[in-house]
Amino acid sequence: MSFPYTEEMMESIKKVEATRAARMATEPRRMTAEEKDALLEKYHPDYNLDSFAEIIVGPNKGQKAPKELVELLQANSRVKGMDLDLTNPDYDVDVLVIGGGGAGSSAAIEANEAGANVMIVTKLRIGDANTMMAEGGIQAADKENDSPAQHYLDVMGGGHFANVPELVKKLVCDGPSAVNWLNKLGVLFDKDENGNMITTHGGGTSRKRMHAAADYSGAEIMRVLRDEVQNRNIPVVDFTAAIELIKDTEGKAAGAVLQNMETGEILIARAKCVVIATGGAGRLHYQGFPTSNHYGATADGLVLAYRAGASLLYQDTLQYHPTGVAFPSQIYGALVTEKVRSMGAMFCNAEGEAFMHPLETRDVAASGVIREVARGNGVHTPLRDGIWLDTPMIDAIHGEGTLEKRLPGMLRMYMRYDIDMRKVPIVIYPTLHYQNGGIHITEDGMSDIENLYVAGEAVGGIHGRNRLMGNSLLDIIVFGRNAGQQAGKKCKEVTLAEPTLSHVDSFAAECAEAGIKTDVVSPKVLPDYRRQK
Ligand code: FUM
Repeated sequence: MSFPYTEEMMESIKKVEATRAARMATEPRRMTAEEKDALLEKYHPDYNLDSFAEIIVGPNKGQKAPKELVELLQANSRVKGMDLDLTNPDYDVDVLVIGGGGAGSSAAIEANEAGANVMIVTKLRIGDANTMMAEGGIQAADKENDSPAQHYLDVMGGGHFANVPELVKKLVCDGPSAVNWLNKLGVLFDKDENGNMITTHGGGTSRKRMHAAADYSGAEIMRVLRDEVQNRNIPVVDFTAAIELIKDTEGKAAGAVLQNMETGEILIARAKCVVIATGGAGRLHYQGFPTSNHYGATADGLVLAYRAGASLLYQDTLQYHPTGVAFPSQIYGALVTEKVRSMGAMFCNAEGEAFMHPLETRDVAASGVIREVARGNGVHTPLRDGIWLDTPMIDAIHGEGTLEKRLPGMLRMYMRYDIDMRKVPIVIYPTLHYQNGGIHITEDGMSDIENLYVAGEAVGGIHGRNRLMGNSLLDIIVFGRNAGQQAGKKCKEVTLAEPTLSHVDSFAAECAEAGIKTDVVSPKVLPDYRRQK
């Protein structure tokens, strides 16, 4: 491998280097609220109405969602035409957790702690999830100069005050105990020589409350959660997708139809309570964006819950992380953690100008990058135009060796392509990162369907219309634990009536009545990257 930057890129780097000292001396100003609104409206992909469609059946009828999601919500069931015996289940448990990431594992641990007979089913393996890919950290207001109230204001402001207040209250008030729980379980957070947690800022945070494990915070958290699931002997059925929810004749959640990913075998799981923890939708590549998401992020939970009658909230709002890799092609769309900017790296255009503050909230920062490139001020690369992220600033600000110590994953990722980000800036462009919306829940984690709980990225409403960095790792723990505790308690008083899939038939009838004709089947389960003719 040889150094891949073109001569043109190297010429542009000279301009970035020439402005570095002056940029380090003056922080770029923050945008006004009016400037942010104008920027978002013109450049944020959520405002690109052509890429949305109207939902015409189900609880969110008349509302919009990304076209790709609408197609899946209104598609054919995978169990269509199957003659299934729901009365002789292959698995019979108190609590069925669908999804083996951070939220699902936390839920399973707490349900187990509550004495429930709990099982995890996952279409990949436990830990193959967005949690594993999370880099920058987890927010919690546990320092003396901070408070859950301060954290609350940041979350609400970042989410454009569209967040569900009760959910935000729970998120921030349970934050310190969530981090404490992880710490006690064995997560190796970054600490100073006195054993105190090291915390940093993220975009839109008024206090330094980001707790990290270098730049592989999610992997470290997932390592510990997976160990805990295994130590408790919680059964995990892997390589098995949930393809439909089962309800009982009283309309309550009662289990799921499962499909073995290798053999295609259909299995029935009966459960007194079900927790959906299926994560996000990055692999639907809305508007053609690359994604920082795990391979399994195909919005399955939203499809299952919607078809069973649960409503969605803010399904029309997505998060494009401002700093996805724009070059080289081998890692196109991969995440460059916001921590790089928390540590001081600035955005620069091809002329070496810092055109915006590096720690505006994510939607604003992503829109600013998109605008700068649209204005023709981007860096030309052989792959696509992007913006410089001036990573050599990190060692220049904090001293040599800092980037290697605090961002080892980033350094290693780029070094594979002979790019030493300590010495040269890197090129970024927004990447599809997070589904801000999802299934509507109440404070106890329950959806509109009795005994159907939801946790993690599949939930809508916690983050309003824009999530702040580090609040996703926090929400998977807070709402994962909450769902497990609630389901673990609730299952003790549940008596199931007859199992049924009649909701699937009713939904199909509603689609037919609305004139929907489609060959698409859902949930999607895995993305399809085969070359199209
Ligand atoms: O930039 C990041 O490290 C991402 C963090 C997050 O989405 O919370």
